Amino acid sequence: MYDFKIEAADKATLYDDIASALEGLVAGEADVIANMANASALIWEALPDINWVGFYRNIGGELVLGPFQGRPACIRIAFDQGVCGAAAATRQVQRVEDVHAFPGHIACDSASNSEIVVPLIRDGKLLGVLDIDSPMQGRFDPEDEAGVVRLAEIMTRAI
Ligand code: SME
Repeated sequence: MYDFKIEAADKATLYDDIASALEGLVAGEADVIANMANASALIWEALPDINWVGFYRNIGGELVLGPFQGRPACIRIAFDQGVCGAAAATRQVQRVEDVHAFPGHIACDSASNSEIVVPLIRDGKLLGVLDIDSPMQGRFDPEDEAGVVRLAEIMTRAI
């Protein structure tokens, strides 16, 4: 059993703690699904004010739902659809303060108001994206972006 009890006083320490826990969880494990599943569970437990966290995998140029925590979500997303598609197509982090103002945003959970999506790239290949949604507007600031990018980097080596 893993019981991390991550309760950091500030965001930098919070992401340090999540990153260390994630490194520990994926260390020595080669199974992609197991690592994505544990990463989703860890982020879900540790990050406050989120209502969805999970992975979409790049399968033949389409994003296909992977392990996640939260409500059931759309299964397939084209690269020209939504925030996840934009992250995949541009290979750039999408940090969206108000998803309702994002053209083509796909509302999987009507509770979502802000979102961050980080592309997972290894050796120039897009493996998928890490997506986190929040019911709060503007939940993710640049410090969150740096922290989530760090978690995504750990995952690109673990999937
Ligand atoms: N909102 C996303 C779709 C995925 S869900 O949030 C889980 C988007 O617009 O790409």
